[in-house]
Amino acid sequence: MGRPKILVTRRITESALDRLHEEGQVILWDDQLPPSHDQLTGMLEDCEGLLCLLTDNIDRELLVSASKLRVVSTMSVGFEHIDLETCRNHGIKVGHTPGVLTETTADFTMALMLSVSRRIPEAIHFAQSGQWKTWDPGLLLGQDLHNAVVGIIGMGRIGQAVARRIFAFGSQLLYHDLSRVKVIEKEFNAEAVELDILLNRVDIVSLHVPLTERTYQMISHPQFETMKPSSILINTSRGAVIDTNALLQALREGKIAAAGLDVTDPEPLPHNHPLYKLHNCFITPHIASAGAATRAKMANMAVDNLLAGLHGKPLPNPVA
Ligand code: DGY
Repeated sequence: MGRPKILVTRRITESALDRLHEEGQVILWDDQLPPSHDQLTGMLEDCEGLLCLLTDNIDRELLVSASKLRVVSTMSVGFEHIDLETCRNHGIKVGHTPGVLTETTADFTMALMLSVSRRIPEAIHFAQSGQWKTWDPGLLLGQDLHNAVVGIIGMGRIGQAVARRIFAFGSQLLYHDLSRVKVIEKEFNAEAVELDILLNRVDIVSLHVPLTERTYQMISHPQFETMKPSSILINTSRGAVIDTNALLQALREGKIAAAGLDVTDPEPLPHNHPLYKLHNCFITPHIASAGAATRAKMANMAVDNLLAGLHGKPLPNPVA
């Protein structure tokens, strides 16, 4: 058997790439932007392995045309960009990278939460732009995190890591999930509530659900009507969990106080999008897992999955 052809759709950590070079013929898409669908289709011909990112749309058409493909390994925990049913039907194994990014993503969620609630981006701009003339008792007043009521939607791995941090801050914790997570209730004094109750009671809400048909635009006009005008919305999950137009309207009309978004719909958000112009919306470019060590772990984990699949072994981290 010859060395398998492997397509890698962006430059990843060198040590991870080296491991692939040792095992197969690597085709590396070495561009800053993702390949187009046509480019992907062309490059994937004859490939047995694909290491992709969340920016690659691995749809039915692509999978059907890649007749030799045996493994798809995404360097992400999310896998909504992969057509799992077609993979199943064609015997293509699929792996992802859960766990290694949990703490890094939770750290970043806290950073975003604190930045928005304590108005740090505005404060930096204020100082840098020469507006700082004196100490002012009323300057840039924000919302405390300690003593705040914080709501977590989605109590999976990342939700739980955020819950631990919220508890350490001395905030009160509510959560909403399809199932109860008793250990979080016990350890962090968290209260499980229905979604509308959570939205109605919290000062800060943080989203930690995967993007599925059920969670698509789960925060839209009716939910913004339920939230307090002083509340803050944080999203480090997937952009399409929030209805972008409804969010724009809610921020403009003061239905909520502010939003911190690491993910958007569409993504990236076009440069001229009105959300960028709002004083109460803070957007970062999907970097919640962007710790250097974490990204290296993700790359190596994606390689572990890919190589196991190519060797006919069970993937260490298969997509459920
Ligand atoms: C993921 O892995 O799904 C994140 O969104 C990026 O790290």
